[in-house]
Amino acid sequence: MQIRRIDFTTIDSTNKWAKEHADACDRKQLHVITAQEQTAGRGREGRAWFSPAEQNLYATFLFFIDPMQRDVGNISQLMAVVAAETLHMQHFALQLKWPNDLWIDKKKVGGILTEIFPLKEEGKMGAALGIGINVNMPKEGLNQIAIPATSLSVEKGCAISVEDLLTTLTQNFAQALPIFLEQGFAPFLQPYRNAIAHRAGEKISFHSHKQLLNGKFLEIGIDGRLHLELENGKLMALSSGEILNERTE
Ligand code: BTN
Repeated sequence: MQIRRIDFTTIDSTNKWAKEHADACDRKQLHVITAQEQTAGRGREGRAWFSPAEQNLYATFLFFIDPMQRDVGNISQLMAVVAAETLHMQHFALQLKWPNDLWIDKKKVGGILTEIFPLKEEGKMGAALGIGINVNMPKEGLNQIAIPATSLSVEKGCAISVEDLLTTLTQNFAQALPIFLEQGFAPFLQPYRNAIAHRAGEKISFHSHKQLLNGKFLEIGIDGRLHLELENGKLMALSSGEILNERTE
């Protein structure tokens, strides 16, 4: 798949740009939209993504899918697997917090925001996979984030090249995407399970549909869903929701 890079010094949000310009983009290319800084970076669940200048990786991978594409609900998890693989190649002890938070030692180092949307004039859908990784953010910046967070430079003790990281991430994603489009999530399930931070039997608290629940992590199902046992013994399979960092009793 041919790759087209579009780089901005400053932008509101690379995901927003991708959605606004998708109709004019070549359907056969993988577009990688990047910025040095975002003034209105978007996170999951309507949250903001702190995006200061020239420190971190902010990128949106824009491509086009058939409306019947299988496993479309696992696209964020595909990106999570690719990001984990990329960071493992650079010797980071990266783990995934279900469904697609990038974690080092239970601290958030990156996140993924996926937006699937219809195009104006044809059957195809646009897929904007936004990824933010805290690369060289110093501790003072990390302290401004509401949850425990870290950056690659803080973990490694030296500066990391955002551009080199982006190059490897893009190569890995460009290799994985055609496999996903053809075979769905199945080839990525085991690598995804291997990268997950939670262990079978671990007690976790999570938010689902605005409810706070306590339970035990069981496994990641073959469809990528989170399988849990609630305190009352009821079994649940979640396709969305948020595991909290600390269990609340
Ligand atoms: C999360 O909340 O965990 C997801 C964060 C996703 C942030 C990235 S940064 C590049 C892209 N552009 C955005 O506005 N958001 C995503």
